[in-house]
Amino acid sequence: MKFELTRRDWLAGSSAVASGLMFSGAANAQEMSDFTAFGEPVTPDNPIRMTNNENPYGINPKAMTAIIESYKRAHTYNFGARREMIQVIAKMENLPEECIAVGAGSGEYLVATGALCGITGGNIVAPFPTFGGILRSARNFGAEIITVPVKEDMTIDMDGMRNAVNDQTTCIYFCNPNNPIPSIIDKNDLEAFCLEFSKKAMIVIDEAYYEYVRDDNFSTMAHLVKDNPNIVILRTASKIHAFANVRVGFAFAHPETMEKLMMFRSGTASYPSLMGAIASYQDPEYQKFVVDKNYESLEIMYKMFEELGMRYVKAHANFVYAHAGRPATEVRDKLRENGVLIGRAYEPFPEWIRISTAKPEETEYLVKIYKREFG
Ligand SMILES: Cc1ncc(COP(=O)(O)O)c(C=O)c1O
Repeated sequence: MKFELTRRDWLAGSSAVASGLMFSGAANAQEMSDFTAFGEPVTPDNPIRMTNNENPYGINPKAMTAIIESYKRAHTYNFGARREMIQVIAKMENLPEECIAVGAGSGEYLVATGALCGITGGNIVAPFPTFGGILRSARNFGAEIITVPVKEDMTIDMDGMRNAVNDQTTCIYFCNPNNPIPSIIDKNDLEAFCLEFSKKAMIVIDEAYYEYVRDDNFSTMAHLVKDNPNIVILRTASKIHAFANVRVGFAFAHPETMEKLMMFRSGTASYPSLMGAIASYQDPEYQKFVVDKNYESLEIMYKMFEELGMRYVKAHANFVYAHAGRPATEVRDKLRENGVLIGRAYEPFPEWIRISTAKPEETEYLVKIYKREFG
């Protein structure tokens, strides 16, 4: 019963303040009768956010309460919270505490791993396209970047990755599920790759969208770090936990590797953000709610793609990747005019669009506009 109340709170956002609000801004704002995740009318200045793979339901109310409460003690250097956070994750992941580091988002550890691998020169091998954080860092610290194009079916080319590794390779990066293409790597293939290639280079697997996957062919590789100093796994609270601007993320690595990574990390998660994350990670019900809604929104978009005869990649995360058949920039601009923000164009596919999931009712709005403009 308690959960039902909380759930209603999450759902309230899109309709509670609907009446009495005036439209403003764009010429065509009058025809928009829909509301964003914040319960405000959709306009170009106040768009539905389907651009940065965020969680449209926001922070779990239990986490929000924990964050607000934590401010009573936020004047202290409370290092105990970091330990408590690590204990929660250690239990969930069945990992020793010394294999876990917490920071201000996983971006911090993408920079640190990129630096660790790049500082010795050599090269980093990564699929193309993929998430750029570690690549920028490795390049800044002196590494060459070797990219391996995805296959025709838009999945990561594992044989291509094998062939691209050479004697100078210091790091191999996978984003699994990948981004901007929400594909996954077969778990047996990835594990075999890790066991073989970790003898040659550091393997970094970014599992930012891990919690969204519902496919038996996928598995985390977190279990490998206990015995293997050349494997690093990254996770974030930014996605399923909606902590994008609260900032909590994790690295899982062998203690030996952790010591090296610590030389390059920059920030730390604050006491309020840790207290929020401790509450959020221990509430699987909220996470299930978010994932269920995500798949509802995905289905709404798939239906549209099929009706419009658009090719798309089946998503294992909170975003879709679809062939618009026209420049992605044109689609993006037109949708923005109508109060919907979608992802930018990603090389090397200028006619493919990445759209993050929003609430199902917001996604219905996107469908209405997309069909009207491009159907
Ligand atoms: C694959 C991937 N890794 C990492 C991040 C950054 O996460 P954080 O907010 O934890 O720095 C993102 C953000 O979009 C992402 O898509």
